[in-house]
Amino acid sequence: MNLSNDVVSAFRDHYGAEPDIVVCAPGRVNLIGEHVDYNGGFVLPMAIERAMWMAVRYRPDQEVHLVSCDFGQTAHFNLDGFEYLKPHWCEYIKGVAHALQKRGHTLQGWDGAMLGNVPRGSGLSSSAALELAAAKAFSEVSGFPWDPVEMALVGQESENKWVGVNCGIMDQMISACGRAGHAYLLDCRSLEGTHVPLPTGVKIVILDTATRRGLVDSAYNERRQQCEEAAVFFGVELLRDVTPERFFAREKDLPELTRKRARHVITEDVRTLAAADAMRMNDSETLGRLMWESHVSLRDDFEVSNDALNTLVDLAMAHEGCLGARMTGAGFGGCAVALVREEAAAAFEREVAAAYQQATQLEPAVYVTGATDGARRLQG
Ligand code: GLA
Repeated sequence: MNLSNDVVSAFRDHYGAEPDIVVCAPGRVNLIGEHVDYNGGFVLPMAIERAMWMAVRYRPDQEVHLVSCDFGQTAHFNLDGFEYLKPHWCEYIKGVAHALQKRGHTLQGWDGAMLGNVPRGSGLSSSAALELAAAKAFSEVSGFPWDPVEMALVGQESENKWVGVNCGIMDQMISACGRAGHAYLLDCRSLEGTHVPLPTGVKIVILDTATRRGLVDSAYNERRQQCEEAAVFFGVELLRDVTPERFFAREKDLPELTRKRARHVITEDVRTLAAADAMRMNDSETLGRLMWESHVSLRDDFEVSNDALNTLVDLAMAHEGCLGARMTGAGFGGCAVALVREEAAAAFEREVAAAYQQATQLEPAVYVTGATDGARRLQG
């Protein structure tokens, strides 16, 4: 799982020298609080054991030279002047450099080798891991202090403004701020977070449907717009400010689609806060039930699930070891997350994977993962 030695070997092979440091930044799985970050609401993700590793050597000039072991490609740019070229993994790093420079950080060049194991396009935030690892590399070689919240905003800016994907702040915040053994209850408006310990006696199992998110960007942007329409209706800037009482008192005046979208967001906030409370009380039964309710709301009201996700979640829920399951991430394919009794986890993985394969002819990937620390320097 830890690719730190492999990325050092890759660095040596490519540059014929030793790196100065190794940094890494994790992907994430969101336990609950889906499609609420851009509404200023509450999310409860955790950083996972899969991450992006970078072996890095300081350069005395302004050149950034990179080799991506995942793509088998090299790229480079000069910090004194660079521009967006075309969709490419290096643009995420250029976007980070640009956002850092805009914030007044003086950057130093570096040579880097990159190796990751967050599956791409599966909803586990491989891009946030890449952005935060790059930010960490720049911070280490340039010597500016690491402020996790600022670096999460830098990662988001790279993605929104440079790469052109309109994501919220959740993925970058958890990749920057994660803590081992904990999920992170994040208020996406104030960006204040609390680490909440994972319940004992359970495992977090990620199940990849092996379906990928077609048209996810346009559907995502459409959902964001529908949420904004609902906020305008209620006269608030962010839907987070509409209480369930206020919503249910006026929902009949909303067009059907807007009503459903808003209902998801407003009830999801309540569920997420309740889930964090349940975790604090080590009450995994309640946590599991809330995860399932979140899935139903995403499936029926927010309409961002797909057949594969629904099949997988239903099969997971039908397993006796399962306390709760839901789609996770933006949706339209990608992964589900399940809360499973520890003693049943091995059987759960085997049996649910087999049942899913039989039902869909698709082979699901299964990742059992603990919660890890956020972006960090590993050695050197
Ligand atoms: C994607 C985005 C996040 C968030 C989720 C849905 O992962 O990057 O900001 O909106 O979808 O919860």
